[in-house]
Amino acid sequence: MKIKLKILLLVIVAAFMASSCLYDWEIPEEIPDRDPDQEISFSEEVLPIFTSGNNCTACHNGSQIPDLREENAFSSLNSTRYINKTSPEESRIYTYPHPDGEHYKKYTLTQADLILAWIEQGAKNN
Ligand code: HEC
Repeated sequence: MKIKLKILLLVIVAAFMASSCLYDWEIPEEIPDRDPDQEISFSEEVLPIFTSGNNCTACHNGSQIPDLREENAFSSLNSTRYINKTSPEESRIYTYPHPDGEHYKKYTLTQADLILAWIEQGAKNN
């Protein structure tokens, strides 16, 4: 009885692991819920999307516009070319690297969502 139980447990665990492996491929990225009143910080949340691991700054380092290096990113982006405060979802810094966008380098959905929310909050240098 004891052994049978163990085997049963093993089978269940194995089946669970196998199915969760398969399942991983099918789960679309979930965007974490965000409190809309919580202000997004450009320096602490938006900037790292560009700079950490040279995600964008590998290329956008002064030779390619927009310059997304830490010291230049805000002033490079602070133009109507990249930010549309009237229709935030049309902002080029949001649409171009969006997962559905034209850029070959793309944001994750979570990153895109954060950029959009930052623009909706007025694209502040905070
Ligand atoms: C491998 C190099 C490379 C990386 C990495 C890269 N880009 Fe680019 N990006 C380019 C090049 C080259 C262009 C201009 C050609 C084009 O439009 O594709 C460009 C264009 C853009 C544009 C449009 C510029 C304009 O004025 O029209 C935006 C916005 C942009 N990139 C944002 C990003 C962001 C945000 C990231 C990081 C998520 C990123 N890029 C990562 C090379 C890169």
